[in-house]
Amino acid sequence: MTRKRVAVLISGRGSNLQALLDAQGPLCPYEIVVVVSNNPGAAGLDRAREAGVEAAAVDHRVFGKDRAAFERSLDAFLRDRNVELVALAGFMRVLTPFFVNAWANRLINIHPSLLPSFPGLDTHARAIAAGAKLGGCSVHWVTEGVDAGPIIGQAAVPILPGDTPESLAARTLDAEHMLYPACLALVCGGAPLLPGDAQPMLVNAFVEDR
Ligand code: GRF
Repeated sequence: MTRKRVAVLISGRGSNLQALLDAQGPLCPYEIVVVVSNNPGAAGLDRAREAGVEAAAVDHRVFGKDRAAFERSLDAFLRDRNVELVALAGFMRVLTPFFVNAWANRLINIHPSLLPSFPGLDTHARAIAAGAKLGGCSVHWVTEGVDAGPIIGQAAVPILPGDTPESLAARTLDAEHMLYPACLALVCGGAPLLPGDAQPMLVNAFVEDR
């Protein structure tokens, strides 16, 4: 079986990266060939090294305010490794149209809400403040709008009375760890890569026990 060569882009702890790494069994249609962080101190880079995967930093601070130069460097790095698909997993840099278009239909992200509700930052606090009863996470194609691309899959979790942003984030993260490997496998395993043709999947991740 030919596996899709996947790069995972992170900025921090990398628990979603870990879930993607752990799901790489013999029948898995993807291979994580490199993990790149814009933050050289990201804990997730150690997770990659422990799994025997190349871990690299492309430090955005080196490029100052020149986002284009940062993205050109990242783009060249990924092409150099023959990466076929890029999975963002807690990557905290907004990507410009240059990078998004260069990787169009080959760039996915996970966001901790049921999009299109609550895109952007402070998702959990906003969901609680709005009185939402259902939270969750979404894996989506990345387009120029923040968290606005076509949805590949979603998993739902309840928002319980007394929830704090932290308790909701923890429950949602459990669902993310189920959803992301399933969605990455879906898009790498022959499901149409073009957003218009991709059918959203639903993962039953109704996690109530934390
Ligand atoms: C996750 O909640 C993800 O949905 C969001 O950033 C967080 C990253 O967590 N985009 P981790 O680094 O994967 O643990």
